[in-house]
Amino acid sequence: MKVAGVHRRSLWPAPDRRACFAIDQRRLPHRLEVARLSSLADVRAAIAEMVVRGAPLIGATAACGIALQCADAVDDEALHAAKTTLDGARPTAVNLAWATSRMLAALLPLPLPQRQAAAWREAEAIADEDVAVNAAIGRHGLALLQALAAHSPGRPLNLLTHCNAGWLATVDWGTALAPVYQAQAAGLAVHVWVDETRPRNQGASLTAWELGQQGVAHTVIADNAGGHLMQHGQVDVVIVGADRVSARGDVCNKIGTYLKALAAHDNGVPFYVAMPLSTLDRRLHDGLAEIPIEHRSARELTHVSGRAADGGLAEVQLVPDGSAALNPAFDVTPARLVTGLVTERGVWPANEAALRAAG
Ligand code: MRU
Repeated sequence: MKVAGVHRRSLWPAPDRRACFAIDQRRLPHRLEVARLSSLADVRAAIAEMVVRGAPLIGATAACGIALQCADAVDDEALHAAKTTLDGARPTAVNLAWATSRMLAALLPLPLPQRQAAAWREAEAIADEDVAVNAAIGRHGLALLQALAAHSPGRPLNLLTHCNAGWLATVDWGTALAPVYQAQAAGLAVHVWVDETRPRNQGASLTAWELGQQGVAHTVIADNAGGHLMQHGQVDVVIVGADRVSARGDVCNKIGTYLKALAAHDNGVPFYVAMPLSTLDRRLHDGLAEIPIEHRSARELTHVSGRAADGGLAEVQLVPDGSAALNPAFDVTPARLVTGLVTERGVWPANEAALRAAG
């Protein structure tokens, strides 16, 4: 996607393969800064501190972390240790362990001297495939949007999205926003309601920024406004991303997604989840009981950061001194509330038989 008219990816390798670069998402929308990640430790910290975030991008970055570790002819034990280090950085998005498992499957059979070159080949393949997969999700999602728009001719189609599942959350295109970008390219008028997504405000800071860069009409709303807009016919469809989907189609995504799904169900608004099949965790059945939910620092809730009047970035405290705060980062939407899963292999009902057929 584009930043100031120039095509960018969210993650790319250094030409000498001694590092990878990532857009530092903690600084957006106020500053476009690039982080240089030169070691496994840098990559782990970037994932844990959310320099990079979003399930597919976490996976692609972790693959670069394994490749960086291969600079020293790395033995099997060290490869397994690198995977353990990275997998522990964030527990919910399954794409992280998916990518590190894929890296180890490619590297472990090789003799030590061949591992470094092979690691970069595999890490770059993961990144390139992510772009292609998301473009395919966008094409399948576009067909859905075109069908919905046929019911409301003469006005833009109103989508609602939660968190950031755009190109910043992937290597390029995004998942939930890929259909939006494809719609724009196809000349279909769309308008996006952007949930601010407390506590870290990925919607207000990241989704609004990337939609603005692409020239897509959008409006930031408080997280609590979505239900009201649905009751008044102002939302045609909800599309969100996912961090992990169970074999029967329960969807784990950013905290607050479940409430949007309930409101959509109550108001007859279709609720779609866009996801690469690498987000499907076939080992788990009951998403609510089995998907690990990350709890992040209470400080993300008690404090908020943004641009101050002098142009500098500042953090302020919101809550009284001494108030306790709890910060679960994800929730699980039961499959029964999901209209469909938009994948690179088409749109599937959220149930076990369909997801088995999806491949
Ligand atoms: O905590 P984050 O910002 O990593 O959470 C991101 C989300 O919940 C996204 O919706 C999800 O990863 C899908 S990204 C294509």
